Formats: sequence, C-alpha cells, structure tokens
Amino acid sequence: MSTKNHTLDFSAVAAGIIVFAAAFLTSTALAETDSSSLPHIVTQNGRHALVVDGAPFLILGAQSHNSSAWPAMLPKVWPAIEALNANTLEIPVYWEQFEPEPGKYDTSIVDMIIQQAREHEVRLVLLWFGTWKNGSSHYLPLWLKNQPDKCPRIIGKDGRRVDSPSPHSASALDYDCRAFSAFMRHLKSFDAQHTVIMVQVENEPGSWNTIRDYSPEAQKLFMAPVPVGLLKAMGANAPAAGTWTEVFGTNSDEYFQAWSVARFIDQVAAAGKAEYPLPMYVNVALRDPLTPGPAGTYESGGATDNVLWIWKAAAPSIDLLAPDIYQPDSARYLKVLDLYSRTDNALFVPETMGSPEQARMCFAALGRGAIGWSPFGLDYTVPAQQLNGSPRVTEASLAPIALNYEILRPIMREVAQLNLDGKLQSAVEQTGELTQTIDFGNWQAIVTYGVARNGVARGNPEAIGRALVAKTGENEFLVTGAFCRVDFKAASGGQRDFLRVEEGGFEHGVFRPMRIWNGDETDWGLDFRSIPQVVRVLLGTY
Ligand code: DGJ
Repeated sequence: MSTKNHTLDFSAVAAGIIVFAAAFLTSTALAETDSSSLPHIVTQNGRHALVVDGAPFLILGAQSHNSSAWPAMLPKVWPAIEALNANTLEIPVYWEQFEPEPGKYDTSIVDMIIQQAREHEVRLVLLWFGTWKNGSSHYLPLWLKNQPDKCPRIIGKDGRRVDSPSPHSASALDYDCRAFSAFMRHLKSFDAQHTVIMVQVENEPGSWNTIRDYSPEAQKLFMAPVPVGLLKAMGANAPAAGTWTEVFGTNSDEYFQAWSVARFIDQVAAAGKAEYPLPMYVNVALRDPLTPGPAGTYESGGATDNVLWIWKAAAPSIDLLAPDIYQPDSARYLKVLDLYSRTDNALFVPETMGSPEQARMCFAALGRGAIGWSPFGLDYTVPAQQLNGSPRVTEASLAPIALNYEILRPIMREVAQLNLDGKLQSAVEQTGELTQTIDFGNWQAIVTYGVARNGVARGNPEAIGRALVAKTGENEFLVTGAFCRVDFKAASGGQRDFLRVEEGGFEHGVFRPMRIWNGDETDWGLDFRSIPQVVRVLLGTY
C-alpha cells in the first residue's frame, strides 16, 4: 500500500487554510520581533501589552524564593524553571549584596543570573529588594543598618519605632536612588539583548503595625495642605485646598501613608529610568477584596485597591501596580483580578500560590487581559515544608502549572496580541459550577467540566478545569484548555455546525494546522484534557 493513500492531502484543506490564515492575520498580525527596541508597555483602547523585542509578550513566570539569588542556590532554581517550561524567572537583587560598601557596586551576581537566564532561554524580571521588603527594611546594606539615622524606621502613634522604613527620610531616598540608578545603569550596559524585561521597584512596600509615620517630619507634612497633584486626582469633587484631615477625614492617615510611600518609590523609579527606562512595577500586599477590614488590619501605604488612585497620581514613573494574590478562594481571587485590571493599569500577577489547585487561575488572569502570571517560591531550594504548610516543590507538584505553560508558551505572542486586541476570554472551573458561558456576541462559548462523551457535566473531582477562547473572525475561534469541554451556541438560534476544527500551532504568527478534528473529536464538543492542544474552529449553523 502506498503511503500516499494514508497521507492526508492538505492541498484541498490548504485553500481553506489560506482564507483562514488571512482572516486571522488581518486581525492579529504580529509585528516582526525587533530586538533593538526596549521592552515597554503599550496601551490600546484601554487594553495593554508588554512589548518585548517589538511584539507583545506574555510572562509565563515563576518567582524564586527570597534567598535563592545566590550562586550556590541557582543550580536549584533552573531545574524547576525547566520543569515548568516557564519563559520568565522573577528573582531578587539584594541591595545589601549589590552595594556592599557605600558607592561600590558588586554586579557579579546579577551578571551571573543574566548569563544563566540566557543559557536557559528564559527572560528575567528582577526584583529590587531595596528600602522596602514586605514593609520592613531588612535588605539595607550593613553599612546603612549601622547608621539608623540615615534610613530611619517609622515612628508609630505611641512614639515607639516600628520595623518599617520611613518614607519621609530625604537621606534614605538619596541612598536608594543612588543604588537603584547604579543598578539600572549597569543593566543598560550589560543587557543589550533585553534578557531583563521588567523591574520590580521595592517589594510589598508599606507598613505593618502602624497606619502611618508619626515622626516629626511626617507630622509637619500631615499638618500641611494636601499636595495639589493629589487634589487634582480627586477630580471635580476636590476642595480648593485643605489639610489631610480636612480633606480626607477618617481616611487621612492611610491616604497620607499611601501618598508618602508612592512618592518615595516614584522618585527611586524615576532615577532608575533616567539611566535605563525598562518597565517598572510595584507589587502589593493586598487587603481583603470582598470584606476589607479597617486600615491597620492590612499593610498600610501599599497600592491596595482603595488607594490605587493615589498611587496613580503619586507615582507616574511606575508603569503598573501588581497584586500578589494569596487569596485561597476563587471569589476573592477573581475579584482581585478585576480590581487590578483597569484601563489605566495593566494586570500582572507577580506572585501567587504555586499550588496545583491554583494553576487554573493563570487562565482566569489571561481572560482579564493579564500581561503575565507568576507563582511564588517555585524552586527546589526549600527542602521541607514550605511557608503556610504547603507541600514541598517537586516535579509532580509543578505539573499543573507546567501544563499551562506547555499549552501557552508556543502561542504566548499570539495570546498577548489577542489580549491587546480585546479578543480573548477565559473560563475557570468553580466547585459546583458545571457549565459556564462566555459571550462573544453572535456566538457563546459553552464550557463544561467533567463530562463524559455525550453524558451530563458532573464537574472534575477537583475544580481544575480551564479554557481560553479567542474570537479571531466573525465565525472563527481559537480554543485551548485543560480538563474541560468547549462547545458553541449561535445567538441567531441556528444549530451549531463545526465546519472545520483544526489542531495546530503558530509559526511566525501564522496558524499551521497539523490535523483536522472530526468524528469523536467534535461530535460532542471539543474536549481538552491533560495534553496541550490548540484548535482553530470555523463555525456555521444549519
Ligand atoms: C510576599 C512577598 O512579596 C514575598 O517576597 C514573600 O515574602 C512571600 N510573601 C512569602 O509568602
């Protein structure tokens, strides 16, 4: 028997494919990548993309543990990044290591990380552990720790020092600006190929155990008029002038702290950008998004959802404010995604739980336009139980996130572009919710979980299902997912007809079909399980 009889003749299919590809390309054509352009954030009709090498890029990330950015630890970091198939590693740069003596900079570790990232074909988001780390200042160089008056701690309401850096110290600001500028200057000279695509300025800044600084410098500012820039941000309802208490009443302490921390960090970021203007963001220790307690029950001064507007006004050098999502329940998780996905704020999740059950939230973030998603602590440096009692990181525990990245990494440029174009939506399984509907106007995508062949949906034993659906033409969709079934319903009332379902992938922005799904693969809907599969669907009605 000649092989010809058994080979799908794609020439007939190809005619349709050309039309298909043309339709897809007109809507989502990718710019040729251009490594000379600096990474930057673009905003288009209120949607965003991180542009890397001249085209939208999706951060499929993992963050290391806090103490992993040391030469002796890196061999325990890269294998986890490989097992995950992540395209980006987020890893700290420690001020105490970078500036061991005043004005003397040790770039050896950052250079090593960049070189190793290149060898692993991974990009980097570097985290500047400077003045703030989780509300404290524990990463100050030793020589600064030994001069507490230079980088003083906050004074609480009771007059006692609190373990949190004051945002009102001019000398602290100078030292941080100087070191951060040196760091960015070095990146510019060492990283012409843009292995580093974004920089986090500080880490979860703000203060615990006091709503604000009550130092004499702070008190003076608190009694003074609210800065005009902040009044302007209040819009039409702003009073002409007033002190913090007059203008903000019971919120004045919290708003004052947010303004102060944001202004400090804006100046650090601006100093760094003057050397090398990479995209910069600040990560946020959140307040409860559904039932926030009063100020003081969460970190104060960071970009919590109620003070995003203050941060936007105070820190124009910061490109985006990024939530660290450790909310275990999905209602809260999804609410946070909604709160930080704004026309003036690109959604990016720089930290989240790396647990298997949270893997689906990557799709939830992408469905809300995220430019990236990156669970915390995914390396092999922590030998026993991790923080919060979550299990040790193993290849098996990484597998659900690895599946996400196996699906997404080959199509990450297309997904980022589709999001910029506003064409992508997602569904993630919720316990007890067996069917979800995604509205695309003339079509609805119907996503069901735990459904056998032509049976009824029962839900997966654990809620792990996820689907990503993009509308790429009037009757054309790109679909992928895991542990779910995707079908379509016409708004016209006509009965859905799968005219053609092609499984394939992208080559230089063009969809290349590998096979056509038909028969069992389409008769009951499009089933996605634990294999990375992307299909392009042409729909009709009868
Ligand atoms: C949030 C911080 O930003 C991280 O650096 C790390 O401390 C985690 N919390 C630990 O859970």
